[in-house]
Amino acid sequence: MPKNTISTLLEMKQRGEKISQLTCYDYTTARIIDAAGINTVLVGDSLGNTMQGYENTLPVTMEEMITYGRSAVRGCKDAFVIIDMPFMSYQVSAQQALTNAGRLIKETGGNAVKLEGGAAVTEQIKAIVDAGIPVCAHIGMTPQSVNVFGGFKVQGKGEDNARRVLEDALAVQQAGAFMVVLECVPPKLAALITKKVDMITIGIGAGNGCDGQVLVYQDMLGMSGEFVPKFVKRFAEIGTAMSDAFKAYDAEVKAGTFPTEELSYAKSDCDDEFLQQLDKEYK
Ligand code: KIV
Repeated sequence: MPKNTISTLLEMKQRGEKISQLTCYDYTTARIIDAAGINTVLVGDSLGNTMQGYENTLPVTMEEMITYGRSAVRGCKDAFVIIDMPFMSYQVSAQQALTNAGRLIKETGGNAVKLEGGAAVTEQIKAIVDAGIPVCAHIGMTPQSVNVFGGFKVQGKGEDNARRVLEDALAVQQAGAFMVVLECVPPKLAALITKKVDMITIGIGAGNGCDGQVLVYQDMLGMSGEFVPKFVKRFAEIGTAMSDAFKAYDAEVKAGTFPTEELSYAKSDCDDEFLQQLDKEYK
């Protein structure tokens, strides 16, 4: 059992302590994130963008979520790991959602699943929760609906839209979700939702009135290139550090200055006379 569980996370909300979440898709990064004390790791289908280079998350498959998901889970000791349900792995029916949520948990070892949508997916949430799998919902700007939204835009602007986002939050809570991601929602609306619900709210582009925050780790480390969404703070410039290191390596390899003698195994590991014999044998 990780140190962070649903109970400890809900207690944090009750005490007014903020909850940290980062996306992660691999073992090496998961170990670093976990050791840094981040409360929850999200194996997001954003891996379609960050790891696979697609324009959006729609092509990501169940098999890919399982492969990346189990790698990240292996790197986490204390973080609570949530695995995203990819596009079309749950929209068809509650039965399809339950079957795929079960696969994600059984085959990755994750602690919960996340799916996008509000009132439209409450049947699915209920079926998954009834089977003993915790569900994190995701409302506001839901990237799997990019073709409906016509781009990645703030949701919940104007009275009707704000009411719809609030009603989505209440609906997913009623269906049994223990956590909800609020993506690209006006900060005051996100704060109101956070006050109105007992489940944990995690914001991304939703201001600081949520119970916690999530960012895509490549964005916050400065690894995602020129474009960064307005809500992203770059906590480091790892992309630049990597590029500098790769260039220095390239230069040393080409100059023949890497590896040095200290970085090589002892010369005495190989007998000189034997090497001469080999040299003669293999003309
Ligand atoms: O897929 C993802 O990484 C997400 C977060 C950005 C919330 O859904």
